[in-house]
Amino acid sequence: MIDVILPKMGNLNELCLLLNATTTPLQCTLPCTMLFLFSLILPVLSQIALPNPPFLPPNASSGAQTSSTSGIPNPQWNTLLGNLIYFYDAQRSGNLSATANNRVPWRNSSALDDGKDAGLDLSGGYYDAGDYIKATFPLSFTLMSICWGAIDYGQGYDLSNQTAYLDSMLRWGLDWMIKAHPSPSTLYVLVGNTDVDNAYWGGDQNIPTHRPSYSIDDTKPGTEAAAGASAAFSACSALYSNRGFNGSYSTPASLHDDTYAQTLLTHAQQLYTFAANSTGGQKTYQSSVPAVGDAYGSSGFGDELTIAALFLAWANSSSTYYQQAEQYFQQYKLTKQDDVFNWDSKTPGIYVLFAQIAQSSSGLGGDLSTWQAECERYFDAIVNNDSGAFLTTDGLLYYNGDSDEASLNPALNAAMLLSRYAQIASTADKKASYTKFAQSQLDYVLGKNSMSVPYVVGSNPNSPSNPHSAMASGGDDVGNINTSPPQEAYVLYGAVVGGPDKHGRFFDIRSDWPETEVALDYNAPLLTLAAMHVMNDTNDPFFTSLRAGAYDKVKPSGQPCDAAISDGCSGHKLSKAAIIALAVVLTVVGLLILGLLAWYLRIRLTRK
Ligand SMILES: *[C@@H]1O[C@H](CO)[C@@H](O)[C@H](O)[C@H]1NC(C)=O
Ligand SMILES: *[C@@H]1O[C@H](CO)[C@@H](O)[C@H](O)[C@H]1NC(C)=O
Repeated sequence: MIDVILPKMGNLNELCLLLNATTTPLQCTLPCTMLFLFSLILPVLSQIALPNPPFLPPNASSGAQTSSTSGIPNPQWNTLLGNLIYFYDAQRSGNLSATANNRVPWRNSSALDDGKDAGLDLSGGYYDAGDYIKATFPLSFTLMSICWGAIDYGQGYDLSNQTAYLDSMLRWGLDWMIKAHPSPSTLYVLVGNTDVDNAYWGGDQNIPTHRPSYSIDDTKPGTEAAAGASAAFSACSALYSNRGFNGSYSTPASLHDDTYAQTLLTHAQQLYTFAANSTGGQKTYQSSVPAVGDAYGSSGFGDELTIAALFLAWANSSSTYYQQAEQYFQQYKLTKQDDVFNWDSKTPGIYVLFAQIAQSSSGLGGDLSTWQAECERYFDAIVNNDSGAFLTTDGLLYYNGDSDEASLNPALNAAMLLSRYAQIASTADKKASYTKFAQSQLDYVLGKNSMSVPYVVGSNPNSPSNPHSAMASGGDDVGNINTSPPQEAYVLYGAVVGGPDKHGRFFDIRSDWPETEVALDYNAPLLTLAAMHVMNDTNDPFFTSLRAGAYDKVKPSGQPCDAAISDGCSGHKLSKAAIIALAVVLTVVGLLILGLLAWYLRIRLTRK
């Protein structure tokens, strides 16, 4: 493995300085020049050496064991963080031959011709979810979210010995995004066939070769897609340049690489300029690229422009960008919203990022108490059940609409933002209430729910065993996804699934994608939460306390009622009003029968 033997790119200068100190300049220049040239040919050079032997997820049964140690880091949190990153290895597209350090034995190289239709190499990157689509907009959000988390809770990655995997995971995505951004105002936003009627269900060796590449540019702009990619590049540039927030947070994960950070920053600036000032104007990318369609279209771009300007301000120490972020925030009326935080909706994250920048005496501007007020209005509404969301009977924060497909995602993102913001809350009471609420959602996801299911595949014997993933299932019969094969071929370790329905019921059914599908962005907030808990939690994650077979005892019978399966929608699905009406009718009929009976008996008695 080349990257184990050779020094990191950043260390090369130090090596040269060292040689310079001990030898004459001439003696040094030649080997250093050669080393430098060598380093240019080998792009893996600057990546951190991966542990040897590698981290591999342990069998799910190990997640049923209580840790015997009580220190930091807790071994179960280490494993959870490791598994969560490992999921991204399983989602890799492109060349997985030896040099790629592929840890997933059942994955093969795939889609090597991506981009050829555009005369480009767009191989690599990640499959977004349970099929083989590569989608830039949700990938951008995922990378932004993970880099931001690794800035604030970097010690969690370091302590659990996961920083090398984090580095490798991020570069697999960022290096692809660099290829997808071949000129300042061109960005590839989708590779693959999204036509659901021709959906392919099968392994990674027979993926249909018709995989068109779709791009935005000045003739067909896509403001949120360009701004979202810019924000990912900026956030990750800040991470790679070791730029953390002062005060309440950890130091960034130790994968410092100034050269890479500068490359990322260049892409961030170009994409921001494209988003903000395209000669083609500003519009949503699905109006330019209809193929992104229902699955990956967005609801608007004001939030992306704002967060792109803000992360760029932060990564680049630029008060010009900071002022633009403030202007966008006004222009798009982002104050006082109660939206969720997700790949299409970034406003709550903007509140928190403004507050973090204000509290870190960065000199960019912004008044901490103003941003605290904005954040606390938003978070108080959530914890006081006044945000438009509700709690399911077993305790999950649920937003009608946003939670209907992948219920855990809004709750996990809320928990992640609440935990992060709690550290700079204005009062100890607020800090305590945000922390407590965030913990309740995290516990829920890790098994403290009416199903006794930790919703991370392979983390415990009660974890879901039928994630909606064509790759992991081992099946190729699209008409019989659930039964062919009866048991999934591969355990998709570390994958967060969609989650239960609004009654807390979880159907572990492969074809039920709202509940069982996996996706890049579903894992992202849990990485940040897990890194935080590696740093500061001596207790095991909730799932170690679950009894074996607990889910089998309580799992719902019948079928779900959702966007994938409607079999469960008839019959018992009566509304509250219908139930009341029915009760009234039954009472009236009952009274009528009793009355008739009394009348009949009276007549009989009087006749005697
Ligand atoms: C990768 O290739 C092997 C060997 O042909 C095969 O058994 C496995 O199912 C493939 N993996 C996927 C995800 O299709
Ligand atoms: C951290 O704070 C110090 C002094 O308060 C300031 O000089 C420095 O620029 C700050 N760093 C960041 C990254 O905000």
